[in-house]
Amino acid sequence: MTQIFFLIFVSICLPTYSLLRNTLPEDGRLNFTALGAKYGHPVEEHEVTTEDGYILTFFHIKGKIKPPVFIIHGIADTADTFIIRGKTSLVIALADAGHDVWLANYRGNKYGRRHLKLNPDKDLKFWDFSLHEVGYYDLPAMIDYILQHTGEKKIQTIGHSQGVTTQFVLLSKRPEYNEKIEIMVGLAPVAFLSDVRFPVSLIAQFGPMLGEVFKAIGVEETFPEKSSTTALVRFICSQDVFSYEMCFLLFGFHFVGFDTKRFEPSFLKVLMGHYPGGTSRKNFMHVNQLVLSKRFCEFDYGPKGNLEHYGYIVPPDYNLHKVTTKVALFVGENDVLCTIKDVDMLRTNLPNVVHYHVMEDKVWNHIDFTLGNDMNVTLFPHIFKLLNKLNK
Ligand SMILES: *[C@@H]1O[C@H](CO)[C@@H](O)[C@H](O)[C@H]1NC(C)=O
Ligand SMILES: *[C@@H]1O[C@H](CO)[C@@H](O)[C@H](O)[C@H]1NC(C)=O
Repeated sequence: MTQIFFLIFVSICLPTYSLLRNTLPEDGRLNFTALGAKYGHPVEEHEVTTEDGYILTFFHIKGKIKPPVFIIHGIADTADTFIIRGKTSLVIALADAGHDVWLANYRGNKYGRRHLKLNPDKDLKFWDFSLHEVGYYDLPAMIDYILQHTGEKKIQTIGHSQGVTTQFVLLSKRPEYNEKIEIMVGLAPVAFLSDVRFPVSLIAQFGPMLGEVFKAIGVEETFPEKSSTTALVRFICSQDVFSYEMCFLLFGFHFVGFDTKRFEPSFLKVLMGHYPGGTSRKNFMHVNQLVLSKRFCEFDYGPKGNLEHYGYIVPPDYNLHKVTTKVALFVGENDVLCTIKDVDMLRTNLPNVVHYHVMEDKVWNHIDFTLGNDMNVTLFPHIFKLLNKLNK
């Protein structure tokens, strides 16, 4: 019965959404490349194949100032997130200032849904990855490509949320990459998730059960760009009336922290053209495990699976002492996912923190780092200072 309702719902929503898409503001419809052009910077699309066969499309905006800056997105997100604020976005600010800018897209998002052998629509194996494989395979593939393409020896990185977690995975598991990163700037730097707030803390309790349900019905791709659930969410959230109230006041802000000042209703429609970008169920499961275990550790396959994978009954911790490159940490007091307490724990475990910054405004939340409407005034000057100090 519920299935029938769902089918009716979907069959109405999907076509309506396709119609609606044409009514989204221009920046909600353009992709990364087109947005770059619109804001004055031609974008090159590059392609790299990882050691384990994933084909990723990622982006480059040429600039004279080296070393290159490599920007890495968070969970179920894409490079788009760093450009959809247009003139006020990180990408355009860096490009305007003359930096050589590169943007990651990792496996499973809409720009990374290809593999040499596996078909993402047919082979469940395609989705057998979490933040671990992203850090272990995707980031080094893109980093080596950038170094080779530019002839530089080092890059600087800026990551948001899981875009920082994955770098800690890389630098702890393949410490030779510390030599290739001059400084990493971590915005809402997730490693420990021991202090997530309600309702995320509550939902995490049901995470393992939900994961099993989705596994049982063969759903391994989460929030894909082209799916009925995403269409439904976008349909609801891009209406002219009540969409901000429903999608953000009632829902979204609870998961990232309330800051209505930096995220205005008109921007929701732009965002809906770009988020979510898709990832794997296993990626969410890994994050959920970090919340429940209060550790920063590898994927938990259960006692038997762990013995096979790691030779121990519990998954090993990522060794943060091996992250020897310079690290800058930025945190918001009102971030309900990446809290000050967890970032403090991270800070005491990292050997080379060169800058620690609690955002001045007390309502600064998890997404103000990528989507806030005043980042050009409140955030970017701090980032520029860190990057430029090293260029001298
Ligand atoms: C972006 O859109 C343009 C045309 O609008 C298209 O040619 C290009 O292939 C798209 N790029 C990606 C990476 O999807
Ligand atoms: C920041 O961006 C806003 C909106 O685009 C603009 O009005 C303002 O002049 C910018 N401020 C600075 C210091 O760049």
